[in-house]
Amino acid sequence: MTTKNILVTGGAGFIGSNFINYILSRRDDYVIVNLDKLTYAGNLENLKPSEGKKNYHFVKGDITNNELVDYLFKKHSIKYVINFAAESHVDRSILGSEIFYKTNVLGTAILLEAARRYEVEKFLQISTDEVYGSLGSTGLFTELTPISPNSPYSSSKAAADLAALSFYHTYGLPVVVTRCSNNYGPLQFPEKLIPLMIINAIGNKKLPVYGDGLNVRDWIYVIDHNKAAELVFDKGLPGEVYNIGASREMTNIEIIKLILSKLGKGEELIHYVKDRPGHDRRYAIDSSKIRNQLGWLPEFKFEDAMNNTINWYLANRIWWERIISGVYQKYYNEQYNNR
Ligand code: NAD
Ligand code: TYD
Repeated sequence: MTTKNILVTGGAGFIGSNFINYILSRRDDYVIVNLDKLTYAGNLENLKPSEGKKNYHFVKGDITNNELVDYLFKKHSIKYVINFAAESHVDRSILGSEIFYKTNVLGTAILLEAARRYEVEKFLQISTDEVYGSLGSTGLFTELTPISPNSPYSSSKAAADLAALSFYHTYGLPVVVTRCSNNYGPLQFPEKLIPLMIINAIGNKKLPVYGDGLNVRDWIYVIDHNKAAELVFDKGLPGEVYNIGASREMTNIEIIKLILSKLGKGEELIHYVKDRPGHDRRYAIDSSKIRNQLGWLPEFKFEDAMNNTINWYLANRIWWERIISGVYQKYYNEQYNNR
């Protein structure tokens, strides 16, 4: 069996850990080296299903550490890269942007340079639909929509995304870029809309709705995203961008009311708060390219996947209680108790 030695970065976060657990449950031909800094968002508990597998290695470290990155490429004969590592939360990027540009832009550049030196065969850059900016009430983002990011987070992701594509154009590095819409599912850090609303509702705490609650996001279950990422990694054409989305647009208030009704909680918990500065109004993805060219289709029905997600948070209280009682508490207090 020929194996692929893959450097996966950010594999202790929400999407990366779901990706590694999913991949290693079905593939022996992938050897994964997971490089993660274990920031507030990284959690090795997420990777319990993969621990101990002989084709899985964890390294605690920073993608901006040039020497470490070089050492790992050499030591593990890395020929493939999947770059999930990022600072990922828009609200945090508004509070302070520096670490976003450092990790997301410089970190990606360091990985790209190493990939070039070691002549990697595929570099998958996990980007986001937020690079396109905001839509009005109609229209969809296609891969040809001009990049127009609005937040420090999305501008840092846009810079990384374009840096990756520039390495294809300039050096012929076989880069592929995915731009996915908002994910939800197990193991998502409870600062993002869906897990935050679930755990607040479980605890009968207020649910902070920014602005009028009518901003729209296009939701996809994390496993559907990861299946698409695997497909693009295996079959995506170098230099190409693939949008990923499940065509499930919802306003924030619709999501919140759905969560409350599934948990049997009343709408008196809803609490309208000051809007996020520069809040993008609507995201919506046209994913016909990946569907038509690579044969991808989302498999999970929104209702079922939301039930899975809510049930996961109900069953894994210890996981999120540890998070909100510890490292997350200070940020949580600053962000939400003062609104
Ligand atoms: P996350 O915040 O849950 O996880 C990020 C991970 O990266 C953490 O484990 C963290 O420790 C690690 N990390 C951060 N800085 C690092 C550094 N300097 N070196 C090494 N590791 C570092 O994020 P997520 O939601 O899992 O998102 C993963 C990727 O997917 C990101 O690139 C994000 O931009 C992209 N994305 C996310 C969504 C979404 O809805 N969450 C949608 C589209 C794209
Ligand atoms: P978020 O999960 O932060 O993802 P993103 O901003 O990257 O799309 O937020 C999703 C939507 O939910 C966004 O419109 C902001 C809104 N939101 C709230 O109304 N209240 C909250 O407490 C949070 C975290 C988000």
